[in-house]
Amino acid sequence: MSVGRLAVLVSGRGSNLQALIDAIGQGDLEAEIVTVISDRGDALGLVRAEKVGIPTRVFPWRGDAHREDYFEDISEAVCEAQADLIILAGFMRVLSPNIVQRFPHRIINIHPSLLPAFPGLRAQRQALKYGVKFAGCTVHFVDEGVDSGPILVQKVVPVYPDDTEKALEERILIQEHIALPEAIRLVLEGKWEIQGRRVV
Ligand code: GAR
Repeated sequence: MSVGRLAVLVSGRGSNLQALIDAIGQGDLEAEIVTVISDRGDALGLVRAEKVGIPTRVFPWRGDAHREDYFEDISEAVCEAQADLIILAGFMRVLSPNIVQRFPHRIINIHPSLLPAFPGLRAQRQALKYGVKFAGCTVHFVDEGVDSGPILVQKVVPVYPDDTEKALEERILIQEHIALPEAIRLVLEGKWEIQGRRVV
């Protein structure tokens, strides 16, 4: 892969999507975002995409009973867009096995904790409650578990005694915006292999 074609999935604000748009614009990431897909029609990420002329699609969530079909539809949209990689940039749904199996080592997620600590929702709150002194973010390949695939990039931030969830979230987010383009660049360069759980 050289100029990677990215399908970016978002559920909300889309600041990580914006970081990718900016990295590509500045020539720091040789890639093209070919589609932005959301489970929510009101996601700000869609507005960010439309502003720069990236085609968007909305697939409203249809409930757990339809999970497989739902991700089958998203898989089709990704194939129609001829994307090489699927980037979960604040996409708040757990993927079903069918899409994960269809795109092995081609789906990348960003999570606001130092995995394997604090998977799942509200990772920053979990970190504060636990009392860790360092937190951060992880970019990883997606496997069939929740926030459990092989790790590509991690960034660390300190946790201060008087931190609020919001302050910690903002501190981590700054690092997320660096980590996500860095991880995608690494994958697109293709100079990696997976040894057990490790990306080498
Ligand atoms: C980011 O902090 C991302 O790591 C997190 O949601 C936020 C999305 O922000 N993702 C998860 O928690 C996934 N488990 P953004 O919409 O501004 O990129």
